[in-house]
Formats: sequence, structure tokens, C-alpha cells
Amino acid sequence: MSNLAVVGTQWGDEGKGKIVDLLSEEVDIIARYQGGNNAGHTVRVGEEEFIFHLIPSGILHPHKKCLIGNGVVIDLKSFLEEIDYLKSKGVEFDDNLLIAENAHLTMPYHKILDRIIDASRGKGKLGTTGRGIGTTYTDKSARVGIRVADLLDEETFREKLEINLEEKNYLLEKIYNHKKVNSERILEEYLSYGRQIEKYVCNVSLFLNRALDEGKKILFEGAQGALLDIDFGTYPYVTSSNPIAGAASTGLGIGPTKIDKVLGVTKAYTTRVGEGPFPTQFSSEFEEGMRMRGREYGATTGRPRRCGWFDAVIVRHAVRVNGLDGLAITKLDVLDELEKIKVCVGYNYGGKLLEEFPSLLKVVRKCQPVYEEMEGWKEDTSQVRDYVDLPRRAKEYLQRIAELVKADVSLISVGPGRKQTIILKDLMK
Ligand code: IMP
Repeated sequence: MSNLAVVGTQWGDEGKGKIVDLLSEEVDIIARYQGGNNAGHTVRVGEEEFIFHLIPSGILHPHKKCLIGNGVVIDLKSFLEEIDYLKSKGVEFDDNLLIAENAHLTMPYHKILDRIIDASRGKGKLGTTGRGIGTTYTDKSARVGIRVADLLDEETFREKLEINLEEKNYLLEKIYNHKKVNSERILEEYLSYGRQIEKYVCNVSLFLNRALDEGKKILFEGAQGALLDIDFGTYPYVTSSNPIAGAASTGLGIGPTKIDKVLGVTKAYTTRVGEGPFPTQFSSEFEEGMRMRGREYGATTGRPRRCGWFDAVIVRHAVRVNGLDGLAITKLDVLDELEKIKVCVGYNYGGKLLEEFPSLLKVVRKCQPVYEEMEGWKEDTSQVRDYVDLPRRAKEYLQRIAELVKADVSLISVGPGRKQTIILKDLMK
């Protein structure tokens, strides 16, 4: 029995929500370890669609424990709204949801500052989700952040809020010419949130380690993707946490030895939301068609996603920094109608072939993708349930991807439904 981390291998939106939902069936606990409500995981069950931002998509499975670890930054307003949304859809889970007492809180000033700071960058803006993610992690690193446990102790919360507001209101008013935030209103609002979330709060690290000792099976859920990783992504066009598998350890308080296997979720093509380099982006006309076919609009912000060909350079990089044991290839069916399909095998940088992703952004910007062109299969794959029944050219495409990125394909998704899945290798066995 293996504990498995599920991570994104591109710029997020690879379809992790569906894969986590599917694999949740086989585990006891689903534990989210980083990011915040910048994430948007969509899961389709029958005719119904669920969108998750903070709560692990495993919550749809009754009796599975869903944990939000210390590595996650929590916007309580959004968290409580998500609970209401799920309850309104008939999902019952009170005893199954736990949040870490040492997770940091995204406060109203974090959201305001995130938007103002990004807008103030002008042409150099990062295109953040505006959810206060970067500003919350900034405070965490600066050691002035407010954690869940602080909120549950009124005296501590008042004290920390006061210190923070002094600095934040100065920044808002004097530097960004924005009106101050009202401390009494925040105090009241957050103390009320504290009362509402108290029942979910626990020492997630302790809980998880005890569960591991009892032989419980865990799925570690990552948000975003390797190319948005603060260390290994296209810095500074990244998010402010580490979506890669190693962060499951620090983001939940478990030893790295407890992560047995890592599954990388990879879209059969590439997408990206927000600014930053994207070597294989389609020309705008072709992009629009693919966007429609793949329904490529952000689940959190509704922004149209940029779309492009499969880039083996970035996925190879993701395979390495995550130590992937296998790939889950999603949205293969979106390519069904194409005559020709291109795969980026390397980058041409001033006449030199680069096979590994460069760290220097200036270099990435000057890279031209080197493509291999393959024949499309021009058949509907959305009803296929067995690998042998896939069109020959679709199999060739998948085999070429596996070869180029140096990882085996464990699972293929050919549509949003749970059943639209082809399993080749169960990494949890
Ligand atoms: P932030 O995480 O809101 O600070 O945004 C930083 C960058 O990460 C922006 O380009 C966002 O569009 C991108 N980003 C953050 N979360 C996601 C996600 O879940 N999917 C795709 N892109 C994301």
C-alpha cells in the first residue's frame, strides 16, 4: 500500500481535481499541502459540476478525512463560502474536514495589497489571481503573519492584528494612496469566523502521523503546477508556494519518507493563466478554437487561459523536480479533431538546442520551440475505456510523450466524467 502525492506538471489547471477525486476512492485521507483559494479544481459527478478552491476535492467521498495543512494559506471568508456552497449541493462532511492550527490566514489587507501591488507593476505585472496569496506568504516569511491558532485566542489575535494594521494601513495610505482598512470591522468579522471554524481546527501534523502509524492510506494533494513553483517555476511569474511534491512534507508536518509515490498530472497540450513566458503558445486564431474545445477558462477568475502545444521540456523538468513515478495524461479527447499535432521536443536558443528548461527568464524569452509533427487520430476517444481501444496514432502520441519526458503513463483521462478514464498502472498498489 502506497501513499501518493498528486501534483501538477505544467502551469496548473492540468485536471488534478478529477484525478484526486478518482483516487480518493482508494485512500482514507486526502491532505492539501500548499497554495490557497487561487486554486480552482473542477470535478464532474454525473451531470453535476463541483468547483473547489481550498477544500480537497476528496470531500465528495463520504467518510474520507480531508485535511488542509499548514502550508496552505486560508482565506476564511472563502473557506466558509465553500462550505456553504458544498452543503447547498447536499455534500455532508462536518466530521471529515480538518484545518491546521498553524496555517496562515489571508486577511482582507492581503487581498487589497495583492491587487494594488500587481497593478502598480504596470507592464511588468504578474497577473496574480488577486486572492492575496503572495502577500500572505510574504507575511509568513517576514514572521508577522496571523495563524489559525492566533485567531482562536482573542487576546493574541487583537495584538497581532493591531501590529499588522499599523504597517498595512501606512502602506495603503502613504505608499499606494488607498483608503485604510477598518480594524474594528476586521476584528469583529474574524472573531465570528473563528467561532465558525473552531470545530475544524486541529494539529494536522499530529493527526496525520498517528494515521500513518495506524497504516492509513494518504493522498497528498498539490495545487498549481511545477512551472508555477516559487523555486523551480518561471520566476517571478510564479505563485508564492512550492507546488512540487517535496512541499507535502513541510506543508503537512510529515517526514519525506512517508511520501511513497508521486503522480504527475499533465494535460495533453499546455495552458497557462496570467503573465509570463510560454514558448509553445498557439497563434491567436488557433488558440481560440482550442480554448473553446477544451473549455479553457480559469475556474477561479474566469480568465481565458492561454493555450499551446505539449511542451516536453517543461514536463521533463517537472518529472525531475518532483521525482515522478508516473503521469496522468488529461484531456486527450480535446485533441481528437486535429489533423496534425505538434510536440515541443527542445528549444532553439541562438542556434543551440536546449533540452532542459533554462533558469534565466531572458533566455526562456528568446527560445524558439523545436517541434516534431505527428498525424492526428481524428477519432472520438471520449468513449474509450481500455488502452488497447485507443486509436493507433493516439497511442503513438502518448508513447512519444512518455519517451520525451522520461516517465511512464499511468492513467489517461478522455473527458471530465469519472468513468472517462483509462487506468494503466495503479500507483497505490
Ligand atoms: P497567485 O498565485 O494568485 O499569486 O498568482 C501567481 C500566478 O500563478 C498567476 O499567473 C496566476 O494566474 C497563477 N496561478 C495561481 N493559481 C493558479 C491555478 O490554480 N491555476 C493556474 N494558474 C494559477
